Amino acid sequence: MTVRKPEPYRIKMVEPIRLIPREQREKRLEEAGYNVFALKGEDIFIDLLTDSGTGAMSDNQWAGMMLGDESYAGSRNFYNLEKTVQDTFGYKYLIPTHQGRGAEKSLFSQLIKTDQYVLGNMHFDTTEAHIHLAGGIPVNLVIEDAYDTSTYHPFKGNTDLEKLESFIKDKGAENIAFMLITVTCNSAGGQPVSMKNIKGVSEICRKYGVRVFIDSARFAENAYFIKKREEGYGEKSIVEIVREMYSYAEGLTMSAKKDALVNIGGFIAIKDDEELYNKVREVNVAFEGFPTYGGLAGRDLEAMARGLREVVEMPYLESRIGQVEYLGQRLMDAGIPIQYPVGGHAVFVDAKKFLPHIPYFQFPAVSLCNELYLEAGVRAVEIGSLLLGRDPRTGEQLESPMELLRLTIPRRVYTYNHMDYVADALIEIYKRRDKLTGLDFVFEPKILRHFTAKMKPVE
Ligand code: F0G
Repeated sequence: MTVRKPEPYRIKMVEPIRLIPREQREKRLEEAGYNVFALKGEDIFIDLLTDSGTGAMSDNQWAGMMLGDESYAGSRNFYNLEKTVQDTFGYKYLIPTHQGRGAEKSLFSQLIKTDQYVLGNMHFDTTEAHIHLAGGIPVNLVIEDAYDTSTYHPFKGNTDLEKLESFIKDKGAENIAFMLITVTCNSAGGQPVSMKNIKGVSEICRKYGVRVFIDSARFAENAYFIKKREEGYGEKSIVEIVREMYSYAEGLTMSAKKDALVNIGGFIAIKDDEELYNKVREVNVAFEGFPTYGGLAGRDLEAMARGLREVVEMPYLESRIGQVEYLGQRLMDAGIPIQYPVGGHAVFVDAKKFLPHIPYFQFPAVSLCNELYLEAGVRAVEIGSLLLGRDPRTGEQLESPMELLRLTIPRRVYTYNHMDYVADALIEIYKRRDKLTGLDFVFEPKILRHFTAKMKPVE
């Protein structure tokens, strides 16, 4: 008999959640223009919109909040965080920021010259936006397997090394600002990157003189997959694996709202390049704040330091990723198509296969997202053609290579019972999937339209 391990924590404080009646959900969704971003938090029963800033802090983190040193300069919490970052990643320099995109803005502004390429496995959308804002051109070089949801690959977040090398040779290293490896690769389904691949990317980049950085939002989840799936790492600790991963790069950006287990925060860390550190620190003062607080309160820095120590513990990671895996497995057992294997922070349902009768320009994953809210009060999010948008030159709707519904699991917030409830709801919908219809725009904003678009179901 296999015994499913329970969550490695007990509950000390509860936050009530409420399922409003079906008729009210129908009304709220209509008022929201059939866009779940416009729903109020209180009208949602289980919120799987994102794992960003939605986690629960531990008693130890809350205790740390009370020890915030709110000195404008030289807060003790900064030095504690600095030491934690040094111990975890092996990097000397720390620059705190208010969240991940703050880190992207400060670092990229110092690394990118106009029209230079920024290579990556698959950039996240704010990352892509900050590359554009700094004058660069984002390029995704993830392996082809990432786009095929049904085939198994242990590391679907890997960069295609052949594509990488030929791209550098073709465009010339002088036209490339840097390479950014995103761990885990959110846009490909929270898919991990292997150590071998990180090392391979680093070797190719070193050969041509291209710098390597790591977008680290889910670094501990990535290290967990390396431990579980890659030969030679089963006996190593998560911190040992993290130290090796980061030895192949020279700096990182971090959204602490994920794997630092806090509700707000971020940072840049730089291995040893003092010149780069000084330049980035200088602009960061203007964008984010004085070097020892970077847009955060002292108490936030303390919670982050404590979160970084907790996130690398195996019982935590086993439970965290086990929960995501459990939800994925339940859906797969019912024949629902998902990105396989399941990633670290979310289950990505393949809406193109779930709703083959709805074309990309009527947004199948949005249709499924809305139906899930109506059925069960659960909020998920579309990662597909609505998010992708239109071709800026022709105005034509682009077709996303994947139409995904992301069921993103907040850290330490929900239990297996919540996962069962979500799975049951989706299985119900799957039985009557041919009844679902696509959507048309009623109002379409020019930029970042998915947040504020208003839509209506097609007849
Ligand atoms: N990089 C990755 C890989 C991310 O997933 C995110 C955010 C960021 C950078 C930006 O960090 O939000 O702190 O400014 N992802 C969230 C999500 C928003 O829902 O996936 P941020």
